[in-house]
Amino acid sequence: MVQALSPKAEAEIRQGRYLVQLLGCGTCHTDGALTGQPRSDRLLAGSSVGIAYSNPLLEENPGVVFPPNLTPDQDTGIGRWSEEDIVRFLRSGMDPVARRHLPVMPWPAYASLSDEDASAIASYLKNLAPVRHRVPANVGPGWATSAEFVYFGVYRSQ
Ligand code: HEC
Repeated sequence: MVQALSPKAEAEIRQGRYLVQLLGCGTCHTDGALTGQPRSDRLLAGSSVGIAYSNPLLEENPGVVFPPNLTPDQDTGIGRWSEEDIVRFLRSGMDPVARRHLPVMPWPAYASLSDEDASAIASYLKNLAPVRHRVPANVGPGWATSAEFVYFGVYRSQ
């Protein structure tokens, strides 16, 4: 049985949806969006296309990261994350197992989200319909991936 949401919870989810659209989370996390063809059946359900995070002009096999599935699917999405886990992650890039994510995920830009806005985003994500979609595994620089990837941005040269 689907439980009815209180008007307050509904307003929070609406605000979260607004912020997710405004902050462009789907630009990376919706399948197909990185190559200009967002799939509405995989809205925020993770990208099969990766993003290079080291310089592809210097390395034949750059490191590639795949924007994960943000729907609450237990196995392929973030169904096991609590709303607090999501809020902490957005502000610090730190996931529930204390792995700090790459800044390709623009968490440094989200560090100053207010409590209210960060919680609204978390409630919206937790209330999405779960979509089963496993994204390809990230690869480090020097390792090949058979998945498509795009590159953008500036790469630090060492
Ligand atoms: C420029 C692309 C981009 C944008 C925009 C973006 N993300 Fe991400 N996100 C990523 C990538 C890439 C990762 C994986 C990083 C890694 O593995 O180190 C990630 C990881 C995550 C994770 C961790 C999920 C997991 O299973 O580990 C969450 C949660 C998340 N993003 C939420 C968001 C939200 C919410 C927004 C909008 C407010 C957003 N992201 C905007 C690219 C993006």
